[in-house]
Amino acid sequence: IDELIAEGVNGKRVFVRADLNVPLSGTTITDDGRIRAVQPTVEKLVAAGARVVVASHLGRPKGAPDPAFSLAPAAARLGELIGADVAFATDTVDESARATVAALEDGEVAVLENLRFNPGETSKDDAERGAFADRLAELADLYVGDGFGAVHRKHASVFDLPARLPHAAGDLIATEVGVLKKLTENVQRPYAVVLGGSKVSDKLGVIDHLLERADRILIGGGMAYTFLKAQGHEVGSSLLQEDQIPAVLEYLKRAEDKGVEFVLPVDVVVSGQFPDLKAKAPTEHRTVPADAMPAGFIGLDNGPETNTLYASKLADAATVFWNGPMGVFEHPDYAEGTRAVAQALVDSSGFSVVGGGDSAAAVRTLGFDENAFGHISTGGGASLEYLEGKTLPGLAALED
Ligand code: 3PG
Repeated sequence: IDELIAEGVNGKRVFVRADLNVPLSGTTITDDGRIRAVQPTVEKLVAAGARVVVASHLGRPKGAPDPAFSLAPAAARLGELIGADVAFATDTVDESARATVAALEDGEVAVLENLRFNPGETSKDDAERGAFADRLAELADLYVGDGFGAVHRKHASVFDLPARLPHAAGDLIATEVGVLKKLTENVQRPYAVVLGGSKVSDKLGVIDHLLERADRILIGGGMAYTFLKAQGHEVGSSLLQEDQIPAVLEYLKRAEDKGVEFVLPVDVVVSGQFPDLKAKAPTEHRTVPADAMPAGFIGLDNGPETNTLYASKLADAATVFWNGPMGVFEHPDYAEGTRAVAQALVDSSGFSVVGGGDSAAAVRTLGFDENAFGHISTGGGASLEYLEGKTLPGLAALED
């Protein structure tokens, strides 16, 4: 971006593809990390006199306007952060967007409505995506890619639009890629990885990659129950992906052959019901050994013995990558496992990277100081796919 600015952006319309996909409760932003992450790029462009057009997706609306997924709250928050009025276009490429962009003065900022209100944004059809990218291109002279969380998506604003405009990477993308390189090139050992979240299927690619690189892999969250089941344990009514058991068994075998330590929960916190995440009222729950889960109960968090075990496995790690919460951290009864991993990373002297919207939001909502970690990535799927060594469309498009 510095080169682009050096060439002169004063008076130019600069399209900034950000990832403002923040968690919302109604219209209240519960974690503004992704908005703060793009702030330096926006402020640099403002200072250089650009007319900044910020665009993003939010959630997964079905290719049509849906007020529940409006970017209006994110636009307002961006304005508060940069301390300036931010205009908001109530559509993405139509009348409101055109008028809003046309009204921008040098050094002013506008946010467009959710890119995914338009079917062309996410279309698998190159022509349909291209046609939407053409319309986006009419709104700008230059393109800055800074939505790291979305670079793994082959979407119009991420992949097709940079081909139509002079382009550069923003500061966030540059930082994220710089950090993730430390996890793929000359990694400091021991290298420990903590994987959580609900689905094993989302993590297969990265586990495959890590079996060649990591020294220890610690598993938690909903996906742990498929591993426990694969080892022959009953998991009650916990989340389970039966169809992934063969893959899990193969990974456990490969880990053994390669001397990679696979660590699974030894105790878990269970309840008869999934908790109400809105009311957050106290629930009935208890801790049981991971190999003796009672029928009908749902595993919702790592237990205290597991927390101590995981902390010990992370204490001497020189490099740690963590993606995915260890339990239903949104409810106080099931937040301890996630808190314990976050604390272990804070206590460790190694370099820690927290990857993913959920894990990043978790460490902040649990009250941790984000500066206590080596790096908190704004990308969940994006950081995982980067680690898998995949070509990320949004990075490839910026490279030429
Ligand atoms: C994310 O939350 O990981 C990014 O914003 C991408 O969102 P998506 O998975 O809906 O494409």
